[in-house]
Amino acid sequence: MDLFSQINNTEREELLALRKELQEANYKYYVENAPTLSDYEFDQKLKRLEQLEQAHPDMYDPNSPTQHVGSDLIETKGEMLKVKGTEKGKGKGFEQVAHKYPMLSLSNSYSREEIADWIGKLPTDVEIVCELKYDGLSISLWYENGVLTKALTRGDGVKGDNVIDNIRTIASIPQRLSDIGYRVSDIGFVELRGEILLPWAAFERLNKERESQEEPLFANPRNAASGTLKLQDANEVAKRGLDCYLYYMLGDNLPADTHYERLQVAKQWGFPISDSVKVCHGLEDVMEYIAYWDIERKNLPVATDGIVLKVNNIAQQEELGYTAKSPRWAIAYKFPAEKQLTRLNAITYQVGRTGVVTPVANLEPVQLSGTMVQRATLHNEDFIRQLDIREGDMVWVEKGGEIIPKIVGKETDALSDIRPLSAVRPLASELLDTGYFFPKVCPECGAKLVRVEGEAAWRCPNEAGCPPQQKGKIEHFVSRKALNIEGLGTETIDLLYSQGLLKNIADIYDLTQDDIARQERLGDKSAQNILQSVEKSKQVAWAKVLFALGIRMVGETTAKKIAKRFPNIDQLQWATVEQLTSIDDVGEQIAKNVIEYFNNMSNLEIINRLREAGVQMESKDEETAQQSDRLQGKSIVISGVFTHHSRDEYKAMIEANGGKNVGSISKKTSFVLAGENMGPEKRKKAESLGITLMSEDEFLRLVNNEA
Ligand code: IVH
Repeated sequence: MDLFSQINNTEREELLALRKELQEANYKYYVENAPTLSDYEFDQKLKRLEQLEQAHPDMYDPNSPTQHVGSDLIETKGEMLKVKGTEKGKGKGFEQVAHKYPMLSLSNSYSREEIADWIGKLPTDVEIVCELKYDGLSISLWYENGVLTKALTRGDGVKGDNVIDNIRTIASIPQRLSDIGYRVSDIGFVELRGEILLPWAAFERLNKERESQEEPLFANPRNAASGTLKLQDANEVAKRGLDCYLYYMLGDNLPADTHYERLQVAKQWGFPISDSVKVCHGLEDVMEYIAYWDIERKNLPVATDGIVLKVNNIAQQEELGYTAKSPRWAIAYKFPAEKQLTRLNAITYQVGRTGVVTPVANLEPVQLSGTMVQRATLHNEDFIRQLDIREGDMVWVEKGGEIIPKIVGKETDALSDIRPLSAVRPLASELLDTGYFFPKVCPECGAKLVRVEGEAAWRCPNEAGCPPQQKGKIEHFVSRKALNIEGLGTETIDLLYSQGLLKNIADIYDLTQDDIARQERLGDKSAQNILQSVEKSKQVAWAKVLFALGIRMVGETTAKKIAKRFPNIDQLQWATVEQLTSIDDVGEQIAKNVIEYFNNMSNLEIINRLREAGVQMESKDEETAQQSDRLQGKSIVISGVFTHHSRDEYKAMIEANGGKNVGSISKKTSFVLAGENMGPEKRKKAESLGITLMSEDEFLRLVNNEA
């Protein structure tokens, strides 16, 4: 019997939940540019998943986030696709190009001991190149005979988006290489990899501008750089001021036998190579480098999040080789997120769009990662109780990948002179635990708060009458991914709300030119623009409208799936838990939320008003409808790189023809839709289970009924 297969249910659940959470976090980070986890949290969870998978190799899954890099491909997502012909995403998105060499990630550690262990396992006398780890997004630049021909994002590591027009706007990237030192023409093809960055100053300028336009802010320079590089408008990209550092050279016929020398050649060719790159000999040298840059990096004009260590000698690199995800010849030491100690002056409470009441720490202002911090989240009641945090305490505040800083702990040493006397409570009161109570009523509307069993959050149940919930719902409804109504930012909504003109989402469609134009800050032109945008919103597809309604836990993807199963709101209104939970990714809780939403009279009233105003309550897109049942009952795995359509397009085709796209190969798999460069592990598994590998062309013939 296989000793390893003894995974118990709790561990299995943990492992599967981690895979799902990390997959979603990757999507949020790379595609939506809206990280949900800090880098540190992500890395810790990934480590735990690695541990579980190592202990239970029978749970191996090539699709696990431990086995591949996160994907940032702009998959013409949400665009429906024609099965016949090769029309791709209606001209949107970028050309996708297969990487000549896979674009891998780096293994990383937050512990200097682990870095020392890594160095300890290398051959003695090895030279280690230390570099700064720039916090942007990676780019692969192709030069053919000295001329820049392609610029690919990392994508899913196998293929990337060609963003060359945007890259050409970055002045520090040469379009043509100068022939100094090594003759470029002798080399033929060379690929340079590096990081695209938005310097701090440009980031702040951009966010200020967005604030004044009432557009959502970027959480950090990395997100801003990533959002910028994927714009379809190179003129706008040029205005934002991206920059770049290059750190890796690839090709068949390269100059020099060490990484360091290659970077020096690249510098001569005109590439931006950082002066901080240094060849180190031994542990002490490396630790000195880390200690120096841990401080000095704060004076750099761009964001860095660690140090990268690379074996210098290329032959030694080749000997060490690669894992599925990263080179064994390199590792990143990541700086812990910056923390500051400051005084918690008061705890206030903020009510969000869904009624969740979040405790907010009002702090003595403190400088953190380049900005002044005065407010931070205290998460929920349990967090405050567990850490026994009270007003007056000295607390640690941290800024992770998110824009909202958080409290991560308090100064526990009662003897420490930084802890104020007022925060040191007598033992008796600690025993009685009388120090902290979460409010019983909503700080905004006075309704009695409720706490659903199993949830950490307290909620205000007064959905229809609680101002921040109403305003939050309107903000969500008009947001870009929902009805995309321009001109209705937070301040304008506040203004119209306070005048009683905009109390719920249906009121948007009753606004008149005069209602808006007579507001002091707005005027005729704004009113016209807003109303035009409101008119346009009536064309927005049903799936987005469903997302816009703001049903609890029904995010963009879930809304799409529900809208596909229920092509109009009348059918959805009568859906049962069973029908809803039969949809991929819709669990019991989401199903209950949907049903609860439609049981609420004021929601039904709003829906009727929206319908009367002309908002789409049914699917118009005939392409979303079922096209055939040719793949009915089939479980299909997609693997490799494709030429005619993107992976997402194939997924949509499978679903449109009644099939199911599944992540991993098992006995139940009907066939694998296999593109180029299919992973060897997947291929082996399919072969060992006798599962057919179907080529792209065969598949297209099958769904087009030409087989
Ligand atoms: S080397 C095979 N060097 O960090 C070698 N990467 O977490 C791969 N990064 O995807 C990368 N600064 O986008 C390397 N000096 C540096 C870097 C660096 C930033 C990024 C890069 C990579 C990510 C991995």
